[in-house]
Amino acid sequence: MRKKIVAGNWKMNTTPVEGVELAKGIVAGMRNVDKAVNFIIAPPFTHLSEVVKVTRGTGIAVSAQNCAAEAKGAYTGEVSAAMIASLGVEYVILGHSERRQYYGETSETLNKKMVQVFANNLQPIYCIGEMLEEREAGKHFDVVKQQLEEVVFNLEPAQFEKTVIAYEPVWAIGTGKTATADQAQEMHAFIRETLKSKFGELAEQTVILYGGSAKPDNAKELFSKADVDGGLIGGAALKAADFIAIGQSY
Ligand code: PGA
Repeated sequence: MRKKIVAGNWKMNTTPVEGVELAKGIVAGMRNVDKAVNFIIAPPFTHLSEVVKVTRGTGIAVSAQNCAAEAKGAYTGEVSAAMIASLGVEYVILGHSERRQYYGETSETLNKKMVQVFANNLQPIYCIGEMLEEREAGKHFDVVKQQLEEVVFNLEPAQFEKTVIAYEPVWAIGTGKTATADQAQEMHAFIRETLKSKFGELAEQTVILYGGSAKPDNAKELFSKADVDGGLIGGAALKAADFIAIGQSY
């Protein structure tokens, strides 16, 4: 049995005070969700320390949305994996398409970030996914394969075991246009096969999340698919009731 994970990526939304309220709402609502579902929430850096306090002992894990590629030093504006880990945060989202698109993140940078994540006993949620033009050109499998080969294939098996994959087709993120459950399953099965070619049976345990306009009304169908182990939720993670409803969709 693979773990079931519902992760909320808050992106650059909420003030710290609003974030604490949102986290409290999720803590209150999760009593109504099957214990087998693992919740992760990823607020902005400024909220992490307070949100960790709210979620401590509840079973909800906290994730950062990014970390620096270097360990420490003269990197103005950056936040290191060590700083994040010291707060009691457990995960870091890496390679989100918004970071690849707007901040020029490449596989080279992401490999360095992976090193920092593991050096600090954090777990990565590594995001992959194709752009609309790539899907239309029939290149979506190649793109996703390359994103895995250039980064995930460099991990040691023990690191790979701690890695969560999030498949997020860029054309579905924040657009209201979700991949169909069959499109998601097709790609998730491909991702698992690709991971198996490198890591063998370990890939059977890899949690592969779907992300991109996942909502309470489409989560059930997506999660019913064999290789869809949960979701990375953006917009719908900003309302506790919606996020909880997604958790109830298994
Ligand atoms: P969305 O974002 O649910 O708002 O489409 C998902 C994500 O970017 O992780």
